[in-house]
Amino acid sequence: MAGGYRIAVVGATGQVGTLMLRLLEERGFPASEIVPFASQRSVGRELDGGLIVQGLSEEAVRGFDLAIFSAGGSTSGEWAPRFAAGGAVVVDNSSKWRMNDDVPLVVSEVNPHALASHKGIVANPNCSTMQMVVALKPIHRAAGIERLVVTTFQAVSGTGRKAVEELLSQSHALLHGKEIDPPSAYAHQIAFNALPHAGSFAPSDDHTDEERKLINETRKILEDDHIAVSATCVRVPVVNGHSEAVNIQTREPLSPERARELLQAAPGVKVLDDPNDAIYPLAINADGKDEVFVGRIRRDAGHPQALDLWVVADNLRKGAATNAIQIAELLHEKGLIGAPSTAA
Ligand SMILES: NC(=O)c1ccc[n+]([C@@H]2O[C@H](COP(=O)([O-])OP(=O)(O)OC[C@H]3O[C@@H](n4cnc5c(N)ncnc54)[C@H](OP(=O)(O)O)[C@@H]3O)[C@@H](O)[C@H]2O)c1
Repeated sequence: MAGGYRIAVVGATGQVGTLMLRLLEERGFPASEIVPFASQRSVGRELDGGLIVQGLSEEAVRGFDLAIFSAGGSTSGEWAPRFAAGGAVVVDNSSKWRMNDDVPLVVSEVNPHALASHKGIVANPNCSTMQMVVALKPIHRAAGIERLVVTTFQAVSGTGRKAVEELLSQSHALLHGKEIDPPSAYAHQIAFNALPHAGSFAPSDDHTDEERKLINETRKILEDDHIAVSATCVRVPVVNGHSEAVNIQTREPLSPERARELLQAAPGVKVLDDPNDAIYPLAINADGKDEVFVGRIRRDAGHPQALDLWVVADNLRKGAATNAIQIAELLHEKGLIGAPSTAA
C-alpha cells in the first residue's frame, strides 16, 4: 500500500454509494485510487468529482485492497466473493452475507473486535438494527437484556432512491387534488399513510424480512442468542431518518437515571431527553448526522424491570454509509486490509 488503498465502491450511483464516496473523501480515508461501479445502465456516467462509472467484469474486479458494496443482495452474492478472491476485503451493505458464520457483522462502537476473524467479507448491519444496538450496548453490558419489544418507524430512503421519488410524487399529486399513479415501491400508497409492512413477507413467514433482520442481527452483534426480540417494522412517510420505540427488559435492575448516564457516556450516542421542553430525537433533526439520538428514557409503566427508549438516526449515514466507512477505518487501523484471506 503506497500512498493509500485501491478502493472499489459498488453501487456508487445509489443513495448509500454516493454518500460513501463523499465520506471517503471527507474523512480522509487513505486512497490511492477510487473506482466507482454500478449497473450496466450507468456505465460511462461521470459522477461529481469526475470519477467515471465502470461495469462489473472478471477483469475489472481484480487488484483492489478494499471493495465497499451497496448495490443489493444479488450483486453482493455474485460479486463480493470475486472481489475477495481478487485480493480485496469487502465491506457489504446488503443482507446477503450478514448471518453467514464466516462473516463478521460489525457496528463500529459495539463489536469492532469481531473484525479480526474476517475471511474476506465483512457485513454492515441492517439500518434499523444498527442504530438500535448502538443504544443497547451500554445497557446490555451493565444489566443484560432479557427481552426487547421494538416498533420501527422507517423512512422511505431505506428502500432506495425510487421510493423517495414515489413518496414525493404521491404527496404532490394528493396535495393538488390529483389521482396518484399505482404504487410501485410499496404495496400501498405511502403518502399520508403508515404501512405495517417494512421489508417483504416470505410465503411461509408472518414476519417481514426486515423484522427477521432486527431479531437475528441484534443477537449476532450483541453476541447473545438468549435475547428475546419482538419486532414490528412500519414504513412511514418520512424521507430520511428511522425512529424506533424500544422496550427493554433487563436481567438485572437498571434505573432510568443510570441508563441515561450510561447512554450519555456511550460512544456514538447523543441523549436528547427533556420532554417538558419538547426535547427528544426527531428524524428531521437526525438527517445528515452520524450520531444515534436517544430520548424519552423512562421506566416502563407496565413492568418494574423494563425501560422505554426512543431511538433515531439517519439511516443512510449511521444506518449504512457512515458505519461502512468506520469499518474500513477500523480495518485500516488494525492492519486487516491486505491480510491473507479466503473468500467466504
Ligand atoms: N437505504 C438505506 O437506508 C440502507 C441502509 C442499509 C443498507 N442499505 C443497502 O444498501 C444498498 C443500496 O441502497 P440504496 O438506498 O443506495 O439503493 P439505490 O439508491 O437504489 O442504489 C442502488 C445502487 O445499486 C446499483 N446496482 C443495482 N443493480 C446493480 C447491478 N446489477 N450491478 C451493479 N450495481 C447495481 C445501482 O446502480 P444504477 O444507478 O446503475 O442502477 C445503484 O448504484 C442495498 O443493498 C440496501 O439494502 C440501504
